[in-house]
Amino acid sequence: MTTESYRPRRSVLYVPASNDKALAKIAQLGCDAVIIDLEDAVAPADKIAAREKLAGIFADRPDAGHNGRRCEMVVRVNALSSEWGAEDLAAVAKAEPDGVLLPKVETPRDVLEVGDVLDDNFAPDSVKLWAMIETPKAMLNIGAIAELGRDPASRLACFVAGTNDLIKDTGVLAMPDRVYLLPWLMQMLLAARAGDLDMLDGVFNDFRDPDAFARECTQAAAMGFDGKTLIHPSQVEAANRAFAPSPQALAEARAVKDAFALAQNRGKGVISLDGRMVERLHLAQAEKLLAKAAAIGA
Ligand code: COA
Ligand code: MG
Repeated sequence: MTTESYRPRRSVLYVPASNDKALAKIAQLGCDAVIIDLEDAVAPADKIAAREKLAGIFADRPDAGHNGRRCEMVVRVNALSSEWGAEDLAAVAKAEPDGVLLPKVETPRDVLEVGDVLDDNFAPDSVKLWAMIETPKAMLNIGAIAELGRDPASRLACFVAGTNDLIKDTGVLAMPDRVYLLPWLMQMLLAARAGDLDMLDGVFNDFRDPDAFARECTQAAAMGFDGKTLIHPSQVEAANRAFAPSPQALAEARAVKDAFALAQNRGKGVISLDGRMVERLHLAQAEKLLAKAAAIGA
């Protein structure tokens, strides 16, 4: 994440493309982004009808996001290897969403192939690729996939953890605090940072348990995630809160910035602030946090 290009993705809600009532709600949700889903949330019998709705959804694009900011709109397509994948991509190239979320990405080639299909369909460069990391093979190739983020031509902008599929494909138990998933989640995070990608956490299935959901958001924010993917509108507010800089972190960032601005500190590489060592790298970190807060209106 560069400060200039910061784009909040704290709350990213899946909306099944087959659910008209849910689609109609997009403008009022207050989330940073939505993922219109053509993949797992849509039954095989409804796939084609769901795809045919895209043109209408994007022609009539809702503008309101959080604090008047436009809500980012991404489409999750079916895998290119499935019977729906190629036509999904052709429809998406016409609809020109902000991003296309690819399920079951396992190799750099999976991303490059879809990029080529988008190029062939004249999708503008503004259409980015997001990759679901949800299989054992993806975990083994995570560094090489993330590296594509350094090449703008690849369009790759964001990783999304697919925790339900990872649990299914590995056989780990879904435990409190996600103990067995944590090594993989941290590895995804590390790879995402190496590739300058955003990193979003997986969904929390039990949408009637707001306390447990809030705990999981707090955990993911502490792990360095940019935001969380969501399944229900009731999860938006807690995610927006958890992934925004806390008032305490903002106060500390302002103090660091003010301290370096003092005449006696201007040329210094390292200073002392309230008994702590503070270096220029902390100033850069503070400025990044303040820019993030400004972008989300915190
Ligand atoms: N996006 C937008 N609106 C949504 C929504 C979503 N993901 N989930 C629910 N809503 C709306 C409902 O349409 C309903 O609207 P209404 O008051 O006008 O009837 C309202 O919020 C309350 O919904 P509720 O009755 O609490 O939930 P439900 O039982 O209808 O649906 C789910 C529960 C889980 C089936 C539904 O939330 C859903 O489909 N979520 C997304 C699932 C998904 O995309 N999975 C794939 C990725 S993991
Ligand atoms: Mg999946």
